[in-house]
Amino acid sequence: MTTAVCPGSFDPVTYGHLDIVARAARLFDGVTVAVLVNPAKQALFSPEERVSMLSAATADLSGVSIEVFEGLLVDFCRERGIAAIVKGLRAVTDFDYELQMAQMNSRLAGVETVFVPTSPEWSFLASSLVKEVAGHGGDVSGLVPPSVLRQLQARLDLP
Ligand code: PNS
Repeated sequence: MTTAVCPGSFDPVTYGHLDIVARAARLFDGVTVAVLVNPAKQALFSPEERVSMLSAATADLSGVSIEVFEGLLVDFCRERGIAAIVKGLRAVTDFDYELQMAQMNSRLAGVETVFVPTSPEWSFLASSLVKEVAGHGGDVSGLVPPSVLRQLQARLDLP
């Protein structure tokens, strides 16, 4: 059984993330979505809230589970026997840093990274932009699942 991890902050999960997770689930026997807990980074949603949003949004995908992690991604992979990291590439601007991380993770633990090209539909999409647009009252429906939209509106105190 070959399993993969889709790591990220998911603050919050977007349809761009879900597209990559769904496609990873078709390539691998099992996929773990790993939510990074980074105490140095101020997040809008707690790790538990992010896990709960992801669990609801991936409920219809078989073989997908959600976990929280802290520390090195390769340690998370090693502890669970996960062979591959799946990352979406939105544009060439993602590539430099993603390549660097992929090479480091391969060097550290022999964990390989599989890059999946983001669907053109979502190539502009980032959680940070969703939060910025929503925070200024912009319409982000259609970019995140309805339940995430509701939680964004509540957290940002929007009507
Ligand atoms: O959604 P993000 O914030 O772009 O995801 C970045 C993430 C979580 C994939 C990356 O920061 C990561 O893997 N962090 C874990 C710490 C780690 O392993 N660092 C070394 C990377 S070579």
